Amino acid sequence: MSLFNVYPLYDVTPVSGKDVFVYDEKGTEYLDLYGGHAVISIGHAHPKYVEAVTNQVSKLGFYSNAVQNPLQVELADKIEALSGCKDYELFLCNSGAEANENALKLASFKTGKSRVIAFKNGFHGRTSAAVAATDNTNIIAPINAQQKVTILELNDILGVKAELEKGDVCAVIVEFIQGVGGLDQAHTEFFEQVDLLCKANNTMFIADEVQSGYGRSGKFFAFQYYRVTPDIISIAKGMGNGFPIGGILIHPDIEAKFGMLGTTFGGNHLACAAGLSVLNAIEDQSLMDNVNTMSAYFIKLAESIPQVKKIKGRGLMLGLEFDFEVGNLRKKLIYNHHIFTGGASNKKVLRILPPLTVRKEHISMFFEALIEALAEVELTVE
Ligand SMILES: Cc1ncc(COP(=O)(O)O)c(C=O)c1O
Repeated sequence: MSLFNVYPLYDVTPVSGKDVFVYDEKGTEYLDLYGGHAVISIGHAHPKYVEAVTNQVSKLGFYSNAVQNPLQVELADKIEALSGCKDYELFLCNSGAEANENALKLASFKTGKSRVIAFKNGFHGRTSAAVAATDNTNIIAPINAQQKVTILELNDILGVKAELEKGDVCAVIVEFIQGVGGLDQAHTEFFEQVDLLCKANNTMFIADEVQSGYGRSGKFFAFQYYRVTPDIISIAKGMGNGFPIGGILIHPDIEAKFGMLGTTFGGNHLACAAGLSVLNAIEDQSLMDNVNTMSAYFIKLAESIPQVKKIKGRGLMLGLEFDFEVGNLRKKLIYNHHIFTGGASNKKVLRILPPLTVRKEHISMFFEALIEALAEVELTVE
């Protein structure tokens, strides 16, 4: 059977990883500044992570959500302690799309309304309601198009106000730093006004922290740079360091009812063990401090590269914008310099999403390679 061919693939086959490096079948070392798409938070094959997952799978990998699971409670308490999001409640699922799907569903249950406001170049995953909340028509099937969604420009506060005042909007969903779109951020006043408008109009404010959460932005959540109180916060990616796990933090104003949400695999024992070991490593190794130090170092070096026109994002969720499309540059970095980086729907942006354990020597290594790769790209063009 052949594979359903939906992914354009680089010709690299990683077979193992250690911290910020992955290794192919021939033993070639690659510096991973992509983190497998912002997923590897505490580093590949982190010893405590391997130990936690191994121990748990040897005891009990899975049982259903029909029985007590103290690991879920422990995970919820640890997220509360590290994030500072007091009194929120946790619902666990398996991916970012599922987290947003549940967030949107909950917003609709709570308000009794069904229209969603989302923003241009946003991305929230590929399940039915989540995928409809994007302006990328290539990924919306006719079956998803039945959702009622209005897409506005980031910073269009008058547009948000006019739509919310129509009275039929259940949720505004926003990435505080756009991931797939290319690291754009709205203004502070915009986010803070949206929060107030949501509260005035019985609309749920959903912070999609699937990519920006878990310390990647330099704070536990990117929304914490602003004076806002989201009703629902969606999380996934870095949460399991590669083990599939997602969730939503739900404001206490939203009341749970039996059967309202549910999933077979969500919050299973193995996922919780992985998730707990990630939070322990973030705390024990002061990884959020490391994010801020490494981010400042990265930005300083990026400022010295004349071809970099704009440095975007925060923490270790960064983008370098050039005045040309970066596809060729990414290939040079992978094949000639053995460095993984990311792309974005803004094709001029090179995305940097390393494990939060990255150190100065790795960042210096990247910039030495970038200077050479930029020269190689120029030679190819001539
Ligand atoms: C902000 C954001 N939300 C949601 C998703 C969807 O997550 P998943 O691919 O785990 O479904 C992504 C994935 O890139 C994302 O970046």
